[in-house]
Amino acid sequence: MADQQLISLVERMTLEEKIAQLMQLAVPFFEGAEQSGQITGPMESLGITEEIVHNAGSVLGLAGAKEAIAVQEAHLRSNRLGIPLLLMADIVHGFKTIFPVPLAMGCSWDMELAEQSAKIAAREASVSGIHVTFAPMVDLVRDPRWGRVMESTGEDPYLNSEFARAFVRGFQGDDLSGDVHRVAACVKHFAAYGAGEGGRDYNTVDMSERQLREYYLPAYKAALEEGCEMVMTSFNTVHGVPATGNKRLMRDLLRGEWGFDGVLISDWGAVKEMIPHGVAEDEEEAALKAILAGVDIEMMTPCYVHHLQDLVREGKVEERLIDEAVLRILSLKKRLGLFERPVRGADPALEQEIVFCDEHRQAAREAAVKSCVLLKNNSVLPLKSEKRVALIGPFAASGDILGPWSWTGSKEDAITVEQGLRSKLASDMLLTAEGCDVTSVTEQQLDEALKVANEADVIVLALGEDSEMSGEAGSRAFITLPEPQLELIQHLKPLQKPIVVVLFNGRPLDLHGVLDEADAVLEAWYPGSEGGAAIAELLTGEANPSGRLSMSFPYSVGQIPVYYNHFNTGRPKDAPDAQERYVSQYLDIPNEPLLPFGFGLSYTEFQYGKMMLSAEEMTAKSPLEITVSVTNVGEMAGEEVVQLYIRDMSGEVVRPVQELKDFRKVLLQPGEQQDITFILTEEQLRYHHSDLTYSSDAGEFCVMVGGSSKDTEIRRFRLKK
Ligand code: BGC
Repeated sequence: MADQQLISLVERMTLEEKIAQLMQLAVPFFEGAEQSGQITGPMESLGITEEIVHNAGSVLGLAGAKEAIAVQEAHLRSNRLGIPLLLMADIVHGFKTIFPVPLAMGCSWDMELAEQSAKIAAREASVSGIHVTFAPMVDLVRDPRWGRVMESTGEDPYLNSEFARAFVRGFQGDDLSGDVHRVAACVKHFAAYGAGEGGRDYNTVDMSERQLREYYLPAYKAALEEGCEMVMTSFNTVHGVPATGNKRLMRDLLRGEWGFDGVLISDWGAVKEMIPHGVAEDEEEAALKAILAGVDIEMMTPCYVHHLQDLVREGKVEERLIDEAVLRILSLKKRLGLFERPVRGADPALEQEIVFCDEHRQAAREAAVKSCVLLKNNSVLPLKSEKRVALIGPFAASGDILGPWSWTGSKEDAITVEQGLRSKLASDMLLTAEGCDVTSVTEQQLDEALKVANEADVIVLALGEDSEMSGEAGSRAFITLPEPQLELIQHLKPLQKPIVVVLFNGRPLDLHGVLDEADAVLEAWYPGSEGGAAIAELLTGEANPSGRLSMSFPYSVGQIPVYYNHFNTGRPKDAPDAQERYVSQYLDIPNEPLLPFGFGLSYTEFQYGKMMLSAEEMTAKSPLEITVSVTNVGEMAGEEVVQLYIRDMSGEVVRPVQELKDFRKVLLQPGEQQDITFILTEEQLRYHHSDLTYSSDAGEFCVMVGGSSKDTEIRRFRLKK
């Protein structure tokens, strides 16, 4: 269908039909459709008429090829103009084959892996009838109290942007209409949802325009540059106005300045939430603000369908705005090929064959291996085959390792740590006990744990947060492990046997009582369907840990927000002439996080040679070449993430003490050496000035290269203009 045909289709639609396209229905409207072939509903509480249901533009949360086909076919029978529905869902880190949560994927620093995970998720989702995924979530995160940090790839704008691109490529491929095994991506949550005050979900965000542009916006922009079809608004305020009704953010910046012409959807209920936010008196005003801001689809609340008609009739909203929104939605349907193939990829037979197939699970396992981060190792890992292992803790035999946003995944199908280890160790070499539950413990559990641990040579504790403790509405003020789990560690300590802790969690935790007490700590996050198998490979040394933190672990909550790319202040603590007291510091804790961005250990060791610069000066025409040789001086093959940071020593506005500009993930065999060369261009030195222009400053810079943000060699160079 040519664009002109879409325009004439819009012309043939009544105002009511057009407005219904802007409504997103949720699954309850369609339950039972597979059996009856009829759309059920309407849902009385929302006051939606059957007419609206028949003309609705999209549905949220439907999955399953047969159901999807039945709903689409029923819809086409009842829809006067035969306009197909868009079926949308949150396929965040896998459909049925669950990959590690995005924060874990962030720690892989591996873009091919991320792209592949999204491609597989798209494949499984599309054969199950889904057309659009509400992913990637690219909110920059600096506050681990926020439960949704697990949905993000971390605290760095550059790394997040690279992941945003990779996920979009994986979901969408190059040709959405030709390749029915891809889905349209929807980048979220625009904008700055990750910066809620105090880490409380849905809370106020207030930041300078410069801060927004410099750190928070780049990843959304990167997703759009990669062709991401849709954008979702965020729940928070931006410059005092809820994003969903924020004309400046949506019409001026997103659509105007960035030229985004795709579909903008509100987050769940966010249009109506403008009432409690206090910027709309009622549903009608909320609808008015959202449509004027440029929101095309209203998710879950009926403000549009109840009020847009009147708003148009009263002349408060130009019908042209409705037409434009409808045209964008129809264009997306066209790009997905839905007018020719309304059921698109939905295919019950193929669904049976490929969803959760071995090939996909193998990819999820590889992703889990690469996402785990070894945080400590006093030579206890890898486990030696002659050592008897006591596996204890609430996550030892738990399938609750998929993490939030894995609604189509099944915990029962997840490989637990115990199953993983059983497949590697002789049966008499693995003993198990519960030890405690996630948030409670009994004397009996502790006694059993002690007994089992007594019979073993090494204790492996599988500890963490259950998946309800993070994710949406999962903010926590104290981010230690629950007390009973810390008690378990203390209970076993007197045995003086090596303790390995494997952590399952959705956020960087305050690891006091864990990192200081254990001999080794492996951060597994929520590793997904194949988690236990991946962890067993890592614990036994079949695989070598290669993850690097993409978000800092705070020393304590009192430090939050704590992130590597902070400013120096006028009184930095580590200045050579720093006074003892009157410097920027805490009296009771260090300034540095417990574990920094970019950090992660390996079973082998990497040695860095001296950094070589091609010149002392660079210009826009002659970029700087930075070379460093890295050697694997250990006995096991391993992957190192070589990280390149810069610091602008004197900007027009203050600049971070470090900014990640590039990185390379390299696999080195024992004894192997590789020269890594980075090209640093003038463009990479640009930033937003006080007048918001984006440019670089001539002058002195530092370049830092190393295996973690806090373990680098530093050299200086000048940018000449
Ligand atoms: C979340 C979104 C999600 C939407 C639809 C909301 O509550 O904030 O991230 O896409 O629900 O499920």
